[in-house]
Amino acid sequence: MESVGERIVRLKEERNAVILAHNYCLPEVQDIADFVGDSLGLSRKATETDADVIVFCGVTFMAETAKILNPEKTVLLPDPAAICAMAQMCSPEQIIAARERNPGKEVVGYVNSTAACKAEMDVCCTSSNAIEIVSSLESSGAIFVPDRNLGTYAARSCPDKDVVVWNGFCPIHQSISVQQVAELKAAHPDAEVLAHPECRTEVLDMADVIGSTEKMLNHCRSSDKTEFIVLTEVGMGHRLEVNCPGKSIHFPRSAVCGAMKMATLETIAEVLENMSNPVELPAEVVERARRPVERMIGRS
Ligand code: 13P
Ligand code: SF4
Repeated sequence: MESVGERIVRLKEERNAVILAHNYCLPEVQDIADFVGDSLGLSRKATETDADVIVFCGVTFMAETAKILNPEKTVLLPDPAAICAMAQMCSPEQIIAARERNPGKEVVGYVNSTAACKAEMDVCCTSSNAIEIVSSLESSGAIFVPDRNLGTYAARSCPDKDVVVWNGFCPIHQSISVQQVAELKAAHPDAEVLAHPECRTEVLDMADVIGSTEKMLNHCRSSDKTEFIVLTEVGMGHRLEVNCPGKSIHFPRSAVCGAMKMATLETIAEVLENMSNPVELPAEVVERARRPVERMIGRS
């Protein structure tokens, strides 16, 4: 009898499909994917594929971003309930009101936001290029939505910009405390500390390296160190194990994002079989969101 893995391989071929997976996905999902990466890498990959169908294993905003960049392609979500909590912390109406309160400031939006919010932004960014995007703004000020931690991190690196920071956050990264990091450091005194910029500012101040999930991987791979404390979601452990053999990695145990675990081999096979859960966005939203997303990936 055909295994679920064999079924996925067969269906992928029949549908001319590609599977993209975020670094936090389940190990078996990462292993079957054609490309695994951070938000920026996945968005770029979505523009490079000549597949007709993209199965996006991650959260809904990531699949929506792929659809905005490829409106003619079918983008399937293994589970449409995979919603990023931070992306719910900002609405298009709130962005419009904030723009009115802050004339002359550009709206910079973290990609962890809904497509309807992206339609109200001037430019999007990911955790990989937030500083670069804020520093390259033509105006002297920005409204940064929705992540207060990434916004504060970018603003601190761009002192010439007047940045109004939203009050959203990722509950998973926010749950990583100074005390937890201090305990990990005491237990592993030789470890280098890598932190995702969604962590609290006081946690970022304890890190040796701050960056996106892909930057963390590249750092672990190239560093002479053999031990790392990695302050991000635990799914990253599989990516690091596969790519950095022989290095030991320690995570804060609380850092688990349930939404990122919703894509399973079974749900991937099911959506490929039935072509179910396609991302559907109003044409007007796709039209208006495309420019900020294309600026994010360096296409305009
Ligand atoms: P990366 O772009 O660094 O992979 O981060 C995405 C994310 O959702 C982190 O919580
Ligand atoms: Fe969203 Fe946080 Fe999950 Fe990333 S880890 S997808 S920011 S809830």
